[in-house]
Amino acid sequence: MRALVLTRYGGPEAVELTDVPQPSPGVGELLVRVHAAGLNPVDYKTRAGALKMIHSYRLPIVMGNEFSGVVEAVGPGAGRFAIGDRVFARVVAIGDRVFARVDRSVLGAFAEHTVVHEDHAAQMPTSLDFPAAAAVPLAALTALQALRDELQVRPGQRVFIPGGAGGVGTFAIQIAKYLGAYVATTASARGEALVRRLGADLAIDYTRERFEDRLIGYDAAFDLIGGDTLARLWSVLVPGGRVVSIAGPPEPVTARKDLGRGLALAAAFWFTSLTTRLRAARHRATYRYLFMHPSGADLAYLASLIEANELEIVIDRVVPFADAKAAMAYLETGRAKGKIVLAMT
Ligand SMILES: NC(=O)c1ccc[n+]([C@@H]2O[C@H](COP(=O)([O-])OP(=O)(O)OC[C@H]3O[C@@H](n4cnc5c(N)ncnc54)[C@H](OP(=O)(O)O)[C@@H]3O)[C@@H](O)[C@H]2O)c1
Repeated sequence: MRALVLTRYGGPEAVELTDVPQPSPGVGELLVRVHAAGLNPVDYKTRAGALKMIHSYRLPIVMGNEFSGVVEAVGPGAGRFAIGDRVFARVVAIGDRVFARVDRSVLGAFAEHTVVHEDHAAQMPTSLDFPAAAAVPLAALTALQALRDELQVRPGQRVFIPGGAGGVGTFAIQIAKYLGAYVATTASARGEALVRRLGADLAIDYTRERFEDRLIGYDAAFDLIGGDTLARLWSVLVPGGRVVSIAGPPEPVTARKDLGRGLALAAAFWFTSLTTRLRAARHRATYRYLFMHPSGADLAYLASLIEANELEIVIDRVVPFADAKAAMAYLETGRAKGKIVLAMT
């Protein structure tokens, strides 16, 4: 089958579209004919070797983290799906308990077939086509787990989401609104109309204004940008405010809770997050870095929101599989509005 394969860590030239053996489903797994696959920053970060501290893959691997497609075979012990079901899933979990995958030559979604554990898959919303469904798993699960589970957003709370126009942000704005929050976000002029349409109550053009000059009294922040944005956002919070980041430094809880790892990684993360945690303490706030986890149950919940028209899927572009490298280069510019999707068929 055709697959986008990472042969060595590096730049865009490190991946190639080539033929690899078709995988077969193991215990509890589904073999899926992939119809579309979503691109995410983790793809180019993996390619560059930027995540090696968390996990260094034994190359080559098939790239790609999420897909939509049709079940073609079920492995031993898998009983939740039948051949012919239209499913979507987050397929690879970096640092999750799915490390068994890593020992195989084939593990990704950028391929004509992939395998996924049935616990990580859900039935596709009937209202979506394959490209729209493939845009959902990684980004929407991340937003849901950060806002509902980690920040525990309640109706009436004020939530700041820096970076609202991208893959995660377009879901995060809508989920925070669904949970009843007042939502402020940042976007350049290129993304302002989009974030407002998705429900943002306040959109600040980060290229023209400093958000900390406009915002005060926020209960929580979901940081999608990291760096200078994360360093500056503490003053917008109430005392006791909570910050969850997916782009800042991982901290010790990340190592234990999200990655299931031991003291060594927790200690390394303790050092890398020290400055951020000290800033949080100075503002009597809390800091947590979240690694999302695959979950068929959470995906089914998201599917129900989509069916109820509570969640719009924002797609920047759908690109033929043959142009996967160009699509990844575009994502890497950091300018995508919503999601970029590869169409396999
Ligand atoms: N830890 C996890 O589990 C996890 C999961 C998912 C994603 N992530 C990480 O989260 C980050 C966001 O992911 P994504 O998929 O949303 O990325 P993305 O789709 O590439 O984000 C692109 C968007 O970011 C906006 N942007 C860029 N710089 C900005 C800034 N300084 N302030 C405000 N907006 C800015 C751009 O808007 P303009 O063009 O208007 O500037 C663009 O629309 C990435 O670092 C990704 O690796 C982590």
